[in-house]
Amino acid sequence: MLSDFTITRVRKSRIGEVDFDNLPFGYVFSDHMFTMAFADGRWHSPEIVPYGPIQLEPGAAMLHYGQTAFDGLKAFRGPDGVARIFRPEMNARRLHDSCAALCMPTVDAEVFCQAIVALIELDHAWIPQKEGQSLYIRPLLIGTEVHLDVRPDRTFRFFIISAPVGAYFDQSAGGVSLKAEDRYTRAAAVGGLGFAKTSANYAASMLAAEEAREEGFDQVLWLDSNEHRYVEEVGAMNIFFKIGGTVITPPLGGSILPGVTRDSLMTLLRDRGVPVEERRIAIDEVMDALRSGAMEEIFGAGTGAVVSPVARLQYRGEALALENVPGPLTRDLYAELTGIQTGRLPDRHGWNLRVPLPQAEAVAAAAR
Ligand code: COI
Repeated sequence: MLSDFTITRVRKSRIGEVDFDNLPFGYVFSDHMFTMAFADGRWHSPEIVPYGPIQLEPGAAMLHYGQTAFDGLKAFRGPDGVARIFRPEMNARRLHDSCAALCMPTVDAEVFCQAIVALIELDHAWIPQKEGQSLYIRPLLIGTEVHLDVRPDRTFRFFIISAPVGAYFDQSAGGVSLKAEDRYTRAAAVGGLGFAKTSANYAASMLAAEEAREEGFDQVLWLDSNEHRYVEEVGAMNIFFKIGGTVITPPLGGSILPGVTRDSLMTLLRDRGVPVEERRIAIDEVMDALRSGAMEEIFGAGTGAVVSPVARLQYRGEALALENVPGPLTRDLYAELTGIQTGRLPDRHGWNLRVPLPQAEAVAAAAR
C-alpha cells in the first residue's frame, strides 16, 4: 500500500517530545502528512511528506473567499495490535458532499481510504492507547489559486494530517453545559451550507461560542435560523435527548452536519431496541421535559466529542440541570462505541477498516 505513494520520511521523529499522558485535542501533530495537488482538471503527485508548513500567497483566493472543506475521523489501536480506522468511507462521502457544495473537486473514496491507511502504516506509533485517546485524522482540501476574482479556484491541494488526541471536552465537571442560542445563527435553514464541513460554519459559530464561554457554558446549542425555535446541533457535535424512554435527535435537513457518530449511535440504539425518533424538537419541548423531570438524558455525539453527556442547559436566562450525569444510556453507548472502535467488542456492522501492524512494533508501542 505504501509503495503507491512517494514517501519522504522525517529524519528524526518528534514522538519522543510528546507527553502521551496529557494529550490536548489538536495541538500536537504526527510526523507525516499526505498531500496531493489538483490542476488541469485532475489530481496528481500524491505523496507522504514530513508534517510542516505550507506556502501560500496572501493573494490566494481561498484565504479570502473560503473555498475549504475538511473532515474528521479517528484511528484506534486495540489490545490485539491492530489499528482500526472508524468508518472512513462515510467521511469520504461527506467530504465529497462538502466539496461539491463549494465547487471544489472531490477525492475518490478509494484514494481517500488508501491515503489514510498509508499514513497510519507509517505513523502508527502515534496512535495513543490510553482510555479515551485516539489518533484524530483531519483531511483538508483547499483552493490554492492566486486571484481576487470571486469564482471557483482551478487549483487545489488535499492534505491529510493526524493528531494524537485525548477527550475533546473536559469532563471533570461531569458533563457539558450548553446555552441555547436565540440570537445568532450558525447556518441557513434552507439552501445553505450547514451540512458541509467547511470553515464558514465554524467561523459563523465563534462569536456566539465566545459569549457563551464568558457566561460559563462549554458550547452553544444552535436553533433553526428561521424561528430560533427548533433544536439543530451543537457545532462540535450532534445532539440527542432521551425523553420518556425514547431517544430523539433532530433530522438532517441541510442545516445540520450529518455526523458519522450520530449515524452509528442511531444504529446501536436500534440494535438495543431503544425507540429512536429523528424529528424536529422545539427548545420549548426540551425545556418542558427538563422542568417536568421527563428528560432522562441528553448527550452529544461527534468524532471529537465521542458520546458526551450534557449536564446543564440554559435558554433565555433559565438554566436547568440534569441529575445523575452521565446517565446509564450515555455511559453504555460510550462504552459500546469505543469498544467497537478499539476492537474490544465485536465489530458486527463491519465499521472498522483494519490495518494490521508489524507485531514487534505493536508490542513496543503497547509498552509505551
Ligand atoms: C469532529 O468531531 O471531527 C469535528 O470536526 C469537530 C471539531 C470541533 C473537533
